[in-house]
Amino acid sequence: MEKNFFHGSLFDSLETESQHTTNQNLDIDFNEELISKLKSYTLEKYVSDVETFGLENIWKCICRYVLEIDENNKFLNTRNFGEMYEIGLAVKDKQLKKNNGQYYTPEDVAQIMSQWFCQEIGENICDVACGTGKLILTYLDYIGRENAIELIRNGKLYLYDIDETALNICKTIIIKKYGNNLKDKINVVCGDFLSTKIKLPNNCKVISNPPYSNIQQTGRDWMSTAVLNDSSELYAIFMEKIIKNSNSSVIITPYSFISGTKFLSLRKILNRFGGEIYSFDNVPGNIFCGRKHGIFNTNTSNSVRAAITVVRSTDSDGFRLTPLIRFKSSEREDLLQCKTLEKFLSLDKQKISDKKPMFYKSLIPKLKNVKNGKILKTKQL
Ligand SMILES: C[S@@+](CC[C@H](N)C(=O)[O-])C[C@H]1O[C@@H](n2cnc3c(N)ncnc32)[C@H](O)[C@@H]1O
Repeated sequence: MEKNFFHGSLFDSLETESQHTTNQNLDIDFNEELISKLKSYTLEKYVSDVETFGLENIWKCICRYVLEIDENNKFLNTRNFGEMYEIGLAVKDKQLKKNNGQYYTPEDVAQIMSQWFCQEIGENICDVACGTGKLILTYLDYIGRENAIELIRNGKLYLYDIDETALNICKTIIIKKYGNNLKDKINVVCGDFLSTKIKLPNNCKVISNPPYSNIQQTGRDWMSTAVLNDSSELYAIFMEKIIKNSNSSVIITPYSFISGTKFLSLRKILNRFGGEIYSFDNVPGNIFCGRKHGIFNTNTSNSVRAAITVVRSTDSDGFRLTPLIRFKSSEREDLLQCKTLEKFLSLDKQKISDKKPMFYKSLIPKLKNVKNGKILKTKQL
């Protein structure tokens, strides 16, 4: 039987996670028994501990363990943290019988978004709804260690999420990788991004994969905007706040805003900017079911037609769009390359108007023979 590895008294008082104030510093005794348990930790033990002690508590322990105790743990390796946390969330959601419908960014999608993000302007770098940091970690990797350290040291990295545990994991991975001395230099903003109290810094660019659910209840301190009133979709309001308050952004969302009637007010705001919109069908291959990686097999069946939108405030000429790109899983690797995707962009820029209230859709190309980043032939359905 697994033993309670937190200090008994503190843990006994924890009935449910929601009663626990997450800012509280858990008194964890890293005694020999606990260290030995964590040294040989496995996915099964992790899942069981999440069920017994709660996700937040387990992660407080794991984050402290990797920073203070263990350097070289095969399982408790920061590379696995994102996927471990998603598994933990699924266990918790099952317990609470809820489905959050979170669409976490796969590695290859994070790669292309980071490459586009790197080309955009903005001194302060923000990941909005960062979760455990897939997007920002990929971006920091992409710009290289020296540049990443410089950016963090200069206080120009901003992480936003409502989930304190996810933020703590993200920060732990960053300081484990780039140095503990940077721990006070990262700007971590925990709270509801839609609150008017939460602001983006000046001169910033934003990378984001926001939540996609319907709005159940409007926050008391949200700004009342046409986009909120018309769309009732969280992702649309995230997009609105991000694009209005940044120099540039790269955002992955559902594709529905391109033509859905209730997103007209969002499209009207997009009219003030310019950039590119890449759209992806969800069958047969789908952007959120990426390649398996790491030591887990966590591909979920989340599936949505998605769009990656690159927005820049220096450009007010409108957007170049791709058709809805449909691909087989076997074509994924060749397709998901910036240069390949850019070849699908229309030459003309689109703005919506009273006459044309939607971004018009091109025909759907069925990819054939995408090889080494080159499209050899496309066939229209
Ligand atoms: C789809 S996940 C994306 C996580 C990560 N950015 C990625 O790309 O894998 C959405 C994230 O939005 C966060 N979130 C949900 N509602 C939020 C809100 N109102 N304010 C800030 N973050 C929120 C969730 O905690 C979750 O981490």
